[in-house]
Amino acid sequence: MGSEQRVAALGSASLIAFSIVALVIAGILVWLALRPRGSLAEHAPLQSDAGADGTRIVKVWGIVFPVVTLLVLFGLTLKTMAALPRASALECAPGTDEASDIHVYGHQWWFEINYTFRDPSQNVTTATELHLPVGRSVTIALETRDVIHSFWVPKLRGKVDLIPGQVNHVRLRASQPGVFEGECAEYCGVQHAHMRLRIVGEARAAYEAWLESQRRPAPEPSTEALALGRRTFESAACGLCHQVRGTGAHGLVGPDLTHVASRERIAGGAFPNDTATLAAWVVHAQDLKPGAQMPDLPQLTGEQLTALTAYLQNNH
Ligand code: CUA
Repeated sequence: MGSEQRVAALGSASLIAFSIVALVIAGILVWLALRPRGSLAEHAPLQSDAGADGTRIVKVWGIVFPVVTLLVLFGLTLKTMAALPRASALECAPGTDEASDIHVYGHQWWFEINYTFRDPSQNVTTATELHLPVGRSVTIALETRDVIHSFWVPKLRGKVDLIPGQVNHVRLRASQPGVFEGECAEYCGVQHAHMRLRIVGEARAAYEAWLESQRRPAPEPSTEALALGRRTFESAACGLCHQVRGTGAHGLVGPDLTHVASRERIAGGAFPNDTATLAAWVVHAQDLKPGAQMPDLPQLTGEQLTALTAYLQNNH
């Protein structure tokens, strides 16, 4: 059994135990409310012989039963804790399974994701989509570039905050291939609700292939329209904030767009990555996500916008 399953099993056992206790208490309350009142003689004080039954009830159900229940749960907790990996073991070997470190940085309002390897030429930078190999426990370092955010993927793990000046860790394991939706869980400004995260669990081979494709620079434009798109990207302010590796765009403020077409969603996960939305996002970001760092770019001509959108969609 993995650590997550052990903790989950302990949680379930506690829930069942306390549910039974709550039901018994509720039953007693109902019984008290409904029982016949009887005469004074039938309700002798606890101290008298006739009240011995009452004393026994208090001793057994008021003292022995709760103490035994809590002791059993305490024992189970100690047993579970002893079976968990030690924190020092985690710190010594972050990402041991992968020979890489995965860092997630919170931004207003998107998640930056970096895979760093011993050989820096193998590093991968992306946004919003965190790919993981299925069946492996991976330690992820959580940091923030601005305010406090929180990393939350309900199906995989509880919330862990991203705090300025501090590195927190979360250990994740995608048990099966598929997408696990996540989002920022700490109010971080007006677009907090549009700060999403998608964990993509993939079989080993698919994961390696994904890393390999992300390492490549952006594809060279193969048509005149794509070349215009690239020139527009480099000259129309996009490159001041965004990076497309292999071009003159080296901005680090916004998400790396080298392989933006490989991602399902844009704008911190707020919108689908399709032609119409992409074009609308470029021109009217402030209408779609008011307050975002992405400015409106209404100065682009129709031809430039079409070419720019096509260029971005070609960046697989
Ligand atoms: Cu980031 Cu809420």
